[in-house]
Amino acid sequence: MTIVQNKDLTAWNTFGLKVSCACFVEYGSVAELEDLWKRNRDGLGLPETGGAGDGTAFPRPILHIGRGSNLLFTKDFPGTVFHSDIKFIEVDGGSDAVSVEVGAGVLWDEFCRWCAEQGLWGPENLSGIPGETGAAAVQNIGAYGVEAKDFIRLVKCFDCITGKTVAFKVSECRYGYRESIFKTSAKGRYVVTSVCFSLSSDSRPRLEYGHVRSAVDKVLEDSGKPLTPAMVRDVILSIRNSKLPDPADVGSAGSFFKNPVVPRSDYERVASIARIRHGDDCRVPHFDAGSGFIKIPAAWLIDQCGLKGYRDGNAAVYERQPLVIVNLTGEAAPEEILAVEKKVSDTVFSRFGIRLYPEVEHI
Ligand code: EPU
Repeated sequence: MTIVQNKDLTAWNTFGLKVSCACFVEYGSVAELEDLWKRNRDGLGLPETGGAGDGTAFPRPILHIGRGSNLLFTKDFPGTVFHSDIKFIEVDGGSDAVSVEVGAGVLWDEFCRWCAEQGLWGPENLSGIPGETGAAAVQNIGAYGVEAKDFIRLVKCFDCITGKTVAFKVSECRYGYRESIFKTSAKGRYVVTSVCFSLSSDSRPRLEYGHVRSAVDKVLEDSGKPLTPAMVRDVILSIRNSKLPDPADVGSAGSFFKNPVVPRSDYERVASIARIRHGDDCRVPHFDAGSGFIKIPAAWLIDQCGLKGYRDGNAAVYERQPLVIVNLTGEAAPEEILAVEKKVSDTVFSRFGIRLYPEVEHI
């Protein structure tokens, strides 16, 4: 276990913002987490009891992070940041349906690469997403037609109220588009310690999103071999690399905004504004979200407002994917990212009357 006071968090947020926290705690096992809880019940996000445990209370508030790949620190964090360093990948057996348990601290893409190496189908479309496995289960990460919930079986957690471990079936996690109970009704109560996935050694590619199928067909034609998860992973990584910034080169948190899901009447309004401004042939990309709702790509709305590459100081809208806000120079202050967010959000609202909501969590 590591406990550091006044920790620099630059390496712990993929925006690369130069922020710090009062205290940083990293634990390597469920036993260490239990020990922290026993020593300091108040410090682990429990309801206020007025006491400070054994006197070693961690500064509040408490924040659990993965790799900080979906966080925007708006200022120095005055409390304690917890991080799980629980790292293991264990196969539970099975032949075609393989159950694999992964520690919350395993880098998501390390798990994806491991699956590809083992020839196991499941997370290949989610290759290259920054962050860790525990956070992936909280956030229900998604890309290229697949979401983590599609192959999550169980989410094992530590309950900060009872001090016991508990396992949630996927149906109990109430997963939605980047949503789960861990972000809503049970926020702050549970710490994900590991995630059990249902993978398959039988071929089950999902290639219907965008240009994935045509890119895969090209690889198949060139190689002349049967399709493997590793081939799909390579295709996904090259699509991502062509569109999304690599956090190692330029700071970002991936998609900054959620794609808005709006009533059909709002979509009709956007379509008519688009026709007036860009001519009768202008078509709004959209997807049926059920129950009379339509999902419109935020990237398209932002692009139509001419904001691709928009820069304000050290922060900018990424020129190849306008859904992403970047720390362009590596020197951006939180206020500069917030100013670009406001510019994008206000411009889209005044042009289309659609409010964009951030996917990135503001801290
Ligand atoms: N578009 C434009 N201009 C652009 C880029 C895109 O008009 O410059 C329009 C196009 O019509 C395109 C549409 O926006 O078809 C959607 O773009 P894209 O398919 O690239 O995906 P997205 O909806 O912008 C979502 C996820 C990404 C995920 C991709 C691929 C959200 C908020 N984002 O983006 O997730 O990688 O699909 O599946 O749902 C993330 O969450 O951090 C993330 C990167």
